[in-house]
Amino acid sequence: MRTWIRRSLIALAVLAVVIQVVPYGRDHSNPPVVEEPAWDSPQTRELAVAACYDCHSNETEWYWYTNIAPISWMTQHDVEEGRHKLNFSDVQRIREADEAAETVREGSMPPWYYAVVHSKARLSDAQIQALEAGLAATLGR
Ligand code: HEC
Repeated sequence: MRTWIRRSLIALAVLAVVIQVVPYGRDHSNPPVVEEPAWDSPQTRELAVAACYDCHSNETEWYWYTNIAPISWMTQHDVEEGRHKLNFSDVQRIREADEAAETVREGSMPPWYYAVVHSKARLSDAQIQALEAGLAATLGR
């Protein structure tokens, strides 16, 4: 193998190990569920759990790879921001309730990179319509 390729690979491997020491991204806490919305139907909740709960609830499932930097940094950031804007586990403090249905209709939520990795979040057209209508009925428009 050419020397520069070998050196680059070694440098990359060292970097991959070194970034694991950064403390950010390890706080995988799930605070208690305070109060869920009054769901219009069990189906709406089911769809939201599948497509939204990992970032927008206190019931985040921390998959094994969320322990590995830099994925751990992205996940930590998504969950912090996600819960801050809309936390289905704390309905009294939801800031962006009326936008939930809209994000689903526009396809901006769930984020595309999440749906690529998680098949449970790849919703059919019928499921998107059901979730949109359900979120509008539950949280308003
Ligand atoms: C992979 C994590 C992730 C998932 C899954 C996810 N969101 Fe988000 N969501 C975020 C982040 C991060 C933000 C804040 C930053 C932003 O606006 O992009 C956000 C913001 C929002 C907002 C605030 C308005 C806005 O656009 O900023 C709404 C409403 C929302 N999400 C609804 C949903 C709904 C409904 C689902 C499920 C269909 C969902 N999200 C799935 C990460 C996620």
